[in-house]
Amino acid sequence: MSLKVQSQKNTTAASHRIIICDKASAYAGFLSKEDAAQAKAAFDAKQPSYQSYSGGKSVTLIMVDNTREAFKLKEDTRRAAYGVVKFLNGQKVGEASLENAAANKELGFAFAEGAVLSSYQFLKYKTKDVKPNTLVKLLVNENSLSKKELEELEIITKANLIARDLINEPLSYLTAEQLSKEIVKLGKDAGFKVEVFNKKKIESLKMGGLLAVNRGSQRPPTFNILEYKPSKAKNKKPLILVGKGVVYDTGGLSLKPTPNSMDMMKCDMGGAATVIGTMYAIARLKLPIHVVGLIPATDNRPGEDAYVPGDVVTMMNGLNVEVLNTDAEGRMILGDALAYADKYKPELVFDFATLTGAAKAAISGLATAYMGTASEAVKSKVEASSKNTHERLVEFPLWEEFAPMIKSDVADIKNVGGPEAGAITAGKFLECFTTYPWLHFDIAGSAYLMGEDNYRGKYATGVGVRLMVDFIKNY
Ligand code: BES
Ligand code: MN
Ligand code: ZN
Repeated sequence: MSLKVQSQKNTTAASHRIIICDKASAYAGFLSKEDAAQAKAAFDAKQPSYQSYSGGKSVTLIMVDNTREAFKLKEDTRRAAYGVVKFLNGQKVGEASLENAAANKELGFAFAEGAVLSSYQFLKYKTKDVKPNTLVKLLVNENSLSKKELEELEIITKANLIARDLINEPLSYLTAEQLSKEIVKLGKDAGFKVEVFNKKKIESLKMGGLLAVNRGSQRPPTFNILEYKPSKAKNKKPLILVGKGVVYDTGGLSLKPTPNSMDMMKCDMGGAATVIGTMYAIARLKLPIHVVGLIPATDNRPGEDAYVPGDVVTMMNGLNVEVLNTDAEGRMILGDALAYADKYKPELVFDFATLTGAAKAAISGLATAYMGTASEAVKSKVEASSKNTHERLVEFPLWEEFAPMIKSDVADIKNVGGPEAGAITAGKFLECFTTYPWLHFDIAGSAYLMGEDNYRGKYATGVGVRLMVDFIKNY
């Protein structure tokens, strides 16, 4: 069961009240003198929340420090929600109410968002020892969360959790063809158009990169086009979101070692999940922006006919690529998708991909590395969305001096650079397939965590969805 946030006129009667308040007003009205003193001590000790009980009723105070910058205050509140959700589930509480008594009116949303995201569980394959959360209802009144905010909250959190579900699904369920089925279903639910190209069509389009990676597989690739085109779109040419859809990455013949690398590679369609979740949200929110999603999908395996190091692959845009490592497959399928994007004469193209271990090594799971040729104006809007959503970004340079690192002696470019700047040489590779303003987001670290990080959860995080919805909202 997931956490439902519902509106209710009177929330003060709930047996478990959660009250967000500023330091200054923390003790006003809610608590006994004794509790107030303890709450103050907790606040001074920088504890995010304080719990008090009397007569079977409980109050949780979220004491926010309103001297913090607004974006940090929001994040503090999301993170406090995680602690409260854990606590209430531990107490086997089923229902709680939320009141925002703080000066910052955005904190009701932030808390509810943190609470819903913290309540995520992936239980599909558990038949024993199933421990579903007890906390399934959060009641809010209109002062704390407006009707519009409530609806937005439901859509955006659902979109994030859809992305998490897709990533957490193993290859035994989520093949490329199954991924396409999921996209079709979500398109119907949310209101975006879906077209799925099969292998024949992919061959006729000469998507050499996608076909090369697919050669070791027993299953066909798919190429998925998601389109949301509102009648009164503000943009004449579409914004395009490309997502890496490697439903499993064994490395191919350049096989990965199993522990600590291959064991998490069901997450290699994380970029696709970002795009799918984003399309779901913007269609349901009916944002006035024309957006197209492009998702090349396949697994990457060693197989009798697998592509081999030394192969030369002609990509959709005619560029010849010397393959020196079959584990650098993401850029092979993305190159074709970026070339395909040309057909739309796009205003702007973003791609999301679990592309390199190097990005993860450089900045860990805390952030997404991004780079690209889009204007400074676009970059600063993306950075503003990064602050709003606290989905952290770090910009990497895409200097022309990096280009020689992927030059090939036998073909135009090769699919690996040297031992240094691996995230950037991957970006330089992708750049060869772009003819429009573009940004590349390497989510190899941030898409999938091996340990729980607060409301971002353990395993799939759904990173990129909240970021992109915020960006498109402010586009
Ligand atoms: N899917 C991986 C990157 C990855 C690593 C994603 C860790 C999530 C967590 C990608 O296809 C890959 O194998 N990249 C190689 C590229 C190298 C061969 C140039 C890498 O980073 O090692
Ligand atoms: Mn790989
Ligand atoms: Zn990969």
